[in-house]
Amino acid sequence: MSISVCVFDAYGTLLDVAAAARKAAAEPGRETLASAWPLLADTWRAKQLQYTWIRAITGEHADFWQVTQEALDYGLEAHGLAGDGHRERLLQLYWELEAFPDAEETLTALKKGGMKTAILSNGSRDMLQAAVDSAGIGDRLDAILSVDEVGVFKPNRKVYDLVGQHFDVRPDEVAFVSSNGWDVAAATGYGFHTIWANRAGDPVDRLPWRPTEIATNLRGAQAVIEDWEIAA
Ligand code: LAC
Repeated sequence: MSISVCVFDAYGTLLDVAAAARKAAAEPGRETLASAWPLLADTWRAKQLQYTWIRAITGEHADFWQVTQEALDYGLEAHGLAGDGHRERLLQLYWELEAFPDAEETLTALKKGGMKTAILSNGSRDMLQAAVDSAGIGDRLDAILSVDEVGVFKPNRKVYDLVGQHFDVRPDEVAFVSSNGWDVAAATGYGFHTIWANRAGDPVDRLPWRPTEIATNLRGAQAVIEDWEIAA
């Protein structure tokens, strides 16, 4: 296969979404987060994704920042943490998420190999730009593609269409990398070559499409893409 563009999901794939709750929990005065932060981070993320799907299916789009706040409010209430003064700090930290340790070297290696690189994300443009700037990976990316362009969340096909529109390539010239099983499944159905970065060792989602390949992290995904190039 001849790949010319490598596209990455943002949250959970390049950017560590648990970092906001983990960092807040380590700050003085946030003792109620000390043991609860992993559960809060899981609920926050799960509700954030569920809300994007419901909004995509019903056509009730709102930007990702609103959805992220609504999901956090649910999570804080669910874990008895509402009113503890964590909300604003957690939201602030969401704009400064860390990249996973292998994100920068993976993007650098792919670009050196002649690939174009991009983010394709539910995130709003300003959230993505801030997170990319704070993670220091902006100069490794040729494009940051946000669902803001189409007003609907993944896995609506209009989102995946943004890659071909931006880079003038067919789906089969694209390698798509995500840590979200559902995102990889839908992207496979769309026609991308996909790699699931399965950091958590989760089972494959029971959906009509399976990832083209499975890796354990971003370096593994890079190795798969390089193998595809050698085989081309
Ligand atoms: C994104 C979410 C799905 O970045 O992780 O699009």
